[in-house]
Formats: sequence, C-alpha cells, structure tokens
Amino acid sequence: MKILGIIGRTDSPLAQDGAAALIIDNKIHYAIEQERLSRKRYALGQGAPDAASACLQHTGQQLSDIDYIAYGWLPDLKTGIKISDDISISDELTHVLLPPGQFGYTEPPMVYCVRHHYAHAAATYYTSGFDSAAVLVIDGRGEGESISLYHAKGNKIELLESYPILYSLGAFYTAAGIQAGLGGSSGPGKLMGLAPFGQRRQAIDFSFDPDTGHFTLPPSIQKATDEFPNPLQGSDIERFWRNYFERHFYPYSSQSKEASAAYDTAHYFDLAASVQYTFERICLGLAARVKKLTGEQDLVLGGGCALNCSMNAQMSRQNIFENIYVFPAANDAGCSIGAALALSFALKPEAPLPPRLAAPDFGRAYTVEEITLALLNYGFVPQQLSSTELVDRVASDLEKGKIVAWFRGKDELGPRALGRRSFMANPTQRETLGRLNNIKGREMWRPLAPSILEEQAETVLEGTMERGLHRYMLGVSTIRAEWRKKVPAVVHIDFTCRPHFVQKEQDGLYWEAIHAFYQKTGIPLVCNTSLNVAGQPIVHQPEEVLEVFSTQDDVQTLVLGDFYLTKDSSSIHKYAVPVPKSTP
Ligand SMILES: [Fe+2]
Repeated sequence: MKILGIIGRTDSPLAQDGAAALIIDNKIHYAIEQERLSRKRYALGQGAPDAASACLQHTGQQLSDIDYIAYGWLPDLKTGIKISDDISISDELTHVLLPPGQFGYTEPPMVYCVRHHYAHAAATYYTSGFDSAAVLVIDGRGEGESISLYHAKGNKIELLESYPILYSLGAFYTAAGIQAGLGGSSGPGKLMGLAPFGQRRQAIDFSFDPDTGHFTLPPSIQKATDEFPNPLQGSDIERFWRNYFERHFYPYSSQSKEASAAYDTAHYFDLAASVQYTFERICLGLAARVKKLTGEQDLVLGGGCALNCSMNAQMSRQNIFENIYVFPAANDAGCSIGAALALSFALKPEAPLPPRLAAPDFGRAYTVEEITLALLNYGFVPQQLSSTELVDRVASDLEKGKIVAWFRGKDELGPRALGRRSFMANPTQRETLGRLNNIKGREMWRPLAPSILEEQAETVLEGTMERGLHRYMLGVSTIRAEWRKKVPAVVHIDFTCRPHFVQKEQDGLYWEAIHAFYQKTGIPLVCNTSLNVAGQPIVHQPEEVLEVFSTQDDVQTLVLGDFYLTKDSSSIHKYAVPVPKSTP
C-alpha cells in the first residue's frame, strides 16, 4: 500500500515546516522537508509541493501509482466523506496540496485528511517500537485543540482528552520568544537555550492540575478571553501572553524607543527562566495525567513542544514513566509521515507494528558520479579516500582544531542534525563555540551539542541515559564535573549539554570518525551542529555544501561522501563567548 503523506498547503501564508513522505506498507521510503528543496527556511507559506515531487521522483513513482494521499490536517470540508472522527476524504484541497500544473492530473485525486494531533501521535507511536504507550501531543494548535492525550495499544491510538487552543503551550512559549526579541519561528529554540542564564524571580500563574485536568490562567488573560468577541485564534493567545509579559516582567513601557532601549537584558533571561519553568510544570502535570488515565509504563511525545529538550529531560528525571521516546521530527514536518502511518493503520489495522526507528535518514543520498561532477564544477580536484584514511584524516583535522563539514548519506528529517549533514569540531577549546556560532550567524551565547559515542556516554554525562531522547538530541544531561574543563565548547552555562548518542551499527563512518578522535585524544565526543549558514536551511545538495566550504574561511575540511578536501590551518578564527563561571 503506497501512501503519500503531506503537511503544509500552498495557499496559507502562515503554513510552515511543510514536508512530504512516501510510505509503502508502513515502511518510510522517502521523506523530506520543503525547506531543504526551496531553500527558504521553515518553508513559510510554501506548502510541500516540491517535497511531494521529490518523494515520487526518488522512489520511481508517478502520482497515479500512489494508492492514497494523506494530509496531516482535517479542515472543515464542504464535501468531505467522514470515515472516522479523525479522517475524512475529499478532493477539495488537492489543488492547494499538489498544484495541478506541477503534478499533471486532470481529475484531482482524493485526499484523506487526518486530524493534526492524530498525525503527530501516529508519527511518534508507530516509530517508537512500543506495543503500547501513553501518548502526549503538545503544540501550538491543531484544528481546535492544542494538547491531546491518547492511549495507544497494539495498532490503535485512542483519544482520551484534548484541551482547546486557549491553553496552547506552543502559543505561550512562542509569545515569550517573540517578547524576548528572538523571533517567531526560531524563538522557541533560542528561548530554551537562554533560560539557564536567568532566574525565576516571578511566578506565572498558569498551571494545570493533573487530578482534575483543569487549567488555570492568569486572571487578566482569563478575563480577556472571556470577553473576546470572536473565536480565538493562536495569534490572539500569543498577543494576550505578550501583553501579560509586558505588564508583569518589565518595569518599563514599550511606548517609545528610548524606553525600549532601557530594557535590562537580564529581564529577558529571567523571562526565559520563568517561562521555561512554567512550561515544564504544566508538561509534567500533563504527563502525570496521561499516566493516571492509561497506567502505561512508556510515554511517547509529539508536537513542536516535544522538541523542548529541557522539558523532556525533566519528564525523564521525574520517573513518571519508565521509558520516553520522541519522534525526531516532532514538529509539523513529522505529520507527513504521521498522516500516512495513521491512514495506513486505519485501513489495515492487522498490519504488524513497525520496529523502533533506527535513524531519521529518509532523504536523498548522492552517487560518486554526482559528487565528482559537483566538485569539478566548483574547481576542486576530487580526492576519494578509503574509509580508514578518511576517518583518520578527519580525526587528525579535528585534533588540530579544524572545523569539518560532514556531508554523507541521506538527508535527515527534523530540525536536529544527527551525523549526516553536520559541522563537527573539537570540543576541547571554548573558542570552538564562538567559531561555529559565527559561521552559522547564531548568537554567541547559544550552546553547542556533543555527538558522543553511546558506549562512552556515562563516562562523561550524569543523570538518566534515556536513549529514546538522547539518540535524537532531544534531552539534556549534566556533564560530569571532571569533564567540564576537558570539553568546554559543549558545556552550557548550567553545566548541561544536549547530547546526541552515536551508535556504531547505525551511524557508520560518523561513529568511526568520533572513535578515531577518541583514540587520538581520549575525548569520546565532538561538537555537532547542523550544516547550514545564517538564514539558510540545512544543506541538501553537494553544491550547497561546496558553497559553504568555498565561502567560509573557518570551515577547513569537507567530507562529501567518500571525498575529502581540506584547507591549511593558519586561518583558524577566534571569537569571544560566555564561559560558565565555575565548576562546583
Ligand atoms: Fe503541530
């Protein structure tokens, strides 16, 4: 059964994280985000037509070969045929999902519209490898809800409770990111990194009671929503929260430029800390609630809020559940896969459950001929190395302090780079953080994550070794005191890091390269950050990484498939970055 899964529509300027996936008999054959192809970050307002085209092209399919099209949103349809509470069929949206000019049909094929949170739930549960689990979906909003609790048992995912967008944790967190000047799309990720710099000086009276399932909002927001004349939109909730933050967190008014300029930066740190704390308390309450309702020992998380590593780590530390798993594309991009899997199991419920996802590398790999041609076009002499030689040279370059652009294998789905499109660097110098942040146009305070040999993780890290989180860089661990001075580039201000566990069986030469660095230096980890430069999505084609290598002086080695290029090390740059104050 061939299913094309899609998220994102071409007629909505607010749509972001568009993606498409091709699933055949519950196996993910191809999936990619629209932004990787269109080169517009987050693919704002683009839908996912190029991603859908790529799914067909790279699996040798025509649209007419596809048995079903699944879309990860269930809008109000004029002509829909309802097949369940979560799925309706219609051709109303076909032209905005798959523009006829691009896909060449005359009769629009039917689209199976899948409820958004159900698609999130399916993506995370059907890739978890669990036979049953509690499921928690938390995001900005679905059709009418912002939080959904499910019980997954065997092949069925049953909705237990959902909460309206009034209580949207995605809107709450996004509003804080905007308020702190960090932007809308990229703000939440930055706010999470900023929170440990601040202190929770002021309580936010937004809470959740796991026993009753009752939310409490600050009285001013409750009043504003009670009196609001129209149906609430996500943007309304964000505005209410921004007003709240303005009133409660700053002693200034934002009426004039002078007043805005007078804001003390520390207020933003404290806002971030307070918002993160409140967010975590509510999420822990929701975890307790879904535990109580299901009695399950394992939890799977989905929705954009599940990308909050600090919250996931808190959940893991509380031991409410024995195991936690988060699908690595927990944001809307993952709903391309989720919608397809949800539909597949709805149509064929007796199919066996898929195993735990090994790695989210669902995109395009390049042949030797394609890479050779790209190298020649950029004026480079291709130098193809044996695996042993490649690994040894990379380890030597890392030891010398060179930054390595590592481009091997298929594109990965989701916002984290997990060793196929990554910058690698030596973690033993604090300046590495500044160098990489400079290459990527990131704020200097933003932390870097380590890729660590999984078998050495407990040597360097303390706390829970939750593989369902750390395999995909979705949790947080504390770096052991004796290691903080050894790997300062990956130590955040609170001595934590966001580790990525690298497995020999799954990650091949990436593991080998880190292992070779370990043998040379005694350090079983490297810095890993996504291979993109300021304002750009992660690279997709060889030409894009060659452009980075050619234009960025401080990117000194490039691994492109089995090919290797390097520059001399005299131009290594240095940048000032904040340093954790002391080692307790
Ligand atoms: Fe979502």
